[in-house]
Amino acid sequence: MIMINENFNALKGNYLFFETGKRVSDYRKMNPGARIIRLGIGDVTEPLSQSIIDGLKEAVMEMGVRETFQGYPPSEGYDFLRNIISETEYKARGIDISPDEIFISTGAKEDTANIQELFSKDIKIAIPDPVYPVYADSNIMAGRDKIVYLPCTSENDFLPDLPEEIPDLIYLCFPNNPTGRAINHDGLKKWVDYARQKKAVILFDAAYEAYIRGEGIPHSIFEIEGAFEVAVEFRSLSKSAGFTGTRCSYTVIPDKLKVPDKSSEFHSLKDLWLRRQSTKSNGVAYIIQKGAYRYFTEQGRSENRRIVDYYLENAATIGRGISTLGLKYSGAVNSPYVWCNVPEGLTSWQFFDELLNQCNIVGTPGSGFGSCGEGYFRLTGFGERKDINEAVERLVKFK
Ligand code: MLT
Repeated sequence: MIMINENFNALKGNYLFFETGKRVSDYRKMNPGARIIRLGIGDVTEPLSQSIIDGLKEAVMEMGVRETFQGYPPSEGYDFLRNIISETEYKARGIDISPDEIFISTGAKEDTANIQELFSKDIKIAIPDPVYPVYADSNIMAGRDKIVYLPCTSENDFLPDLPEEIPDLIYLCFPNNPTGRAINHDGLKKWVDYARQKKAVILFDAAYEAYIRGEGIPHSIFEIEGAFEVAVEFRSLSKSAGFTGTRCSYTVIPDKLKVPDKSSEFHSLKDLWLRRQSTKSNGVAYIIQKGAYRYFTEQGRSENRRIVDYYLENAATIGRGISTLGLKYSGAVNSPYVWCNVPEGLTSWQFFDELLNQCNIVGTPGSGFGSCGEGYFRLTGFGERKDINEAVERLVKFK
């Protein structure tokens, strides 16, 4: 008899952004004239930069000519893209990551969700709370139930403490989604040292790396001594180059990262990932990779830095608006997210409904990112400046 994967029964409700989207569309049906400002899901709004458009156009033309037409891409990514990432993102920062340690993909969401397939079902996982819901949900779908949650609240300044219960796999995300908190060199070193000591692996989601402006904040976990043996890093062009709709990301797995099987024989995680990706994926389209390549050129980086600065300024503006309500917040620097307290007496979801009703502003309830997110709310700096300014004007009238 056919039966479902029962692990799905262990998931709590809908995927967060599906749920917020549903509530907004219900509200829209009841209030067709409302001009809703969306500061909920972190989706970029500025168009792709000129360099990227030029790269995409060039590739489209190549695809129309027999001599330059491309069929299946290599599932690990084209060399031209892996080479420039190795040079500009790593070697230029003194980090020795070679092109064959870089795997091109369609999104950090997919990769952070899929990588758990490489590990035993019995492992114990540490996941910050609150955090991007994909980490926990993808493990629950795979049938894992040994999850240690690491509270991140104002009490520990949104930086998780080392767990007493020893995990095998540790998810970290910095600058953090949703709290906006960045981690400094010493803070990250503490985790790398801990992983080495406990023989654990760190999955480091650096999707918001392009928003780092502060000194002393590592752009890559591989800036930390010893990380090559214990960490995987996920990067994305979604928030750095406007690729949420275009889709391109990369995952870095160093040669030195080896994980044992139950007979204590060590395996290269990089080789396992290549095996997984080449079996389950035919890679990222040539056209997209050619567009992505331009992001890493000098011109592409400077164009996109201006766009990221624009979102950062939006986030700072939202932060000022939040302050006028007498609410505390974190983030808005080194991050596009503003993570604020909800007004006293309201839950996160109640604040979501009130903000939608009173101000026609959509945010994301903190509890959707984990139970320690209750009492908090996330607003995003992704948006057009005029909408951000209007949102702040509406916010200050919130009762
Ligand atoms: C978010 O809003 O948390 C992100 O945009 C979701 C994502 O990156 O998938």
